[in-house]
Amino acid sequence: DTTVFKFYSDGEWKKSTSGKLVSIINPTTRKTQYKVQACTQEEVNKIIEAAKTAQKPWAKTPLWKRAELLHKAAAILKEHRAPIAECLVKEIAKPAKDAVTEVVRSGDLVSYCAEEGVRILGEGKFLVSDSFPGNERTKYCLTSKIPLGVVLAIPPFNYPVNLAVSKIAPALIAGNSIVLKPPTQGAVAALHMVHCFHLAGFPKGLISCVTGKGSEIGDFLTMHPGVSCISFTGGDTGIAISKKAGMIPLQMELGGKDACIILEDGDLDLAAANIIKGGFSYSGQRCTAVKVILIMESVADTLVEKVKAKVAKLTVGPPEDDCDITPVVTESSANFIEGLVMDAKQKGATFCQEYKREGNLIWPLLLDNVRPDMRIAWEEPFGPVLPVIRINSIEEAIHHSNASNFGLQGCIFTRDINKAILISDAMETGTVQINSAPARGPDHFPFQGLKDSGIGSQGITNSINMMTKIKSTVINLP
Ligand code: G3P
Repeated sequence: DTTVFKFYSDGEWKKSTSGKLVSIINPTTRKTQYKVQACTQEEVNKIIEAAKTAQKPWAKTPLWKRAELLHKAAAILKEHRAPIAECLVKEIAKPAKDAVTEVVRSGDLVSYCAEEGVRILGEGKFLVSDSFPGNERTKYCLTSKIPLGVVLAIPPFNYPVNLAVSKIAPALIAGNSIVLKPPTQGAVAALHMVHCFHLAGFPKGLISCVTGKGSEIGDFLTMHPGVSCISFTGGDTGIAISKKAGMIPLQMELGGKDACIILEDGDLDLAAANIIKGGFSYSGQRCTAVKVILIMESVADTLVEKVKAKVAKLTVGPPEDDCDITPVVTESSANFIEGLVMDAKQKGATFCQEYKREGNLIWPLLLDNVRPDMRIAWEEPFGPVLPVIRINSIEEAIHHSNASNFGLQGCIFTRDINKAILISDAMETGTVQINSAPARGPDHFPFQGLKDSGIGSQGITNSINMMTKIKSTVINLP
């Protein structure tokens, strides 16, 4: 039997008046696992009205009380790690251990955010006028950070809990209310996470979680006049949102094509281990996954052999068994990945393993001798397929990395720290990892995409600041 879940608004769990449901297909069984409400635009209106109403008293709630409630939610979230992880396994085929890690990491993020919020929202600036030419010391300016209003949070399928709280917690500690629109795949995990906030005792209407078809409520939500800010993580839907949204702050993270540059003096064992972790964990379905290897020709054969040996040891199968490689999230995703593989095959890439697929399950694949005319050199598979491009100079590596439309992260393996810094400075990405695979965590580090990888900056502190504005009060002395 398929369990049906309600949506959350005004402090209650409700069925939609639409009478329609959205099916969540288990990527492993390819059968319907859960169903959630297909909410109506009218229900969205009510949710946003309630969010606007609840936000006013919430903004006046003492900062320490806001933080206290977040700490409570964090603790409850961690207590519920098992059932929420179970949803992640069934909805997005996240390996069981990684699923638990995501929930615990989310609890830690909420707590850290509460502490950081008390720190940075508890202080303002005091400015005097005569520091600017032509002014006497007759004006005192007091500044503080105030909330934006209603924050619309739209997290992606691959971290439906962690990338939800990375938006929710900063919004709440800053005094905003939150409307969460979870991804279809991962919606039940998100609803369960919201229930933890409900159990913590947040005021009614402050937090809501609306589910439904993007075609029916997507634009209605992102263009709604009651929304004061949108924080979106996902694919190129974000570009459409940025064109349609009103005059409101947007925080967007839209994926990447993170390059892994390996120089002759790089530690090839370290690089191989990080390529496996960075390229194949969660079957490559991470925006910060290693998505192209740029390796100096002179050490390429050695590195490729090391990676092949590790790929052969990866376990492939169901997320319940904690396999390294599990089914990708949807059939359409698997088809897209397959399209990139077939294009590479047709154009003569070297297949280090046989291409193998069963349903949504795609065996890990390393493609060597990839050339720039192949789609996989530029497009983001979001799957366990990794292209190797052989280069002959650092300039070539930087050129290829910067030629990408994406600019999220990149990484460099070399023992020469000066070269690493020079390459990092030249790479047009938000972050460069030296001697390790790209990663968003730890969650208090800044995290932002350049170019098509997004706008605005994340990481707990940046997210809190982005969800506030500066209020000044100027005292004019006689
Ligand atoms: O794919 C989303 C991005 O946030 C990945 O996060 O922690 O796996 O690097 P992480």
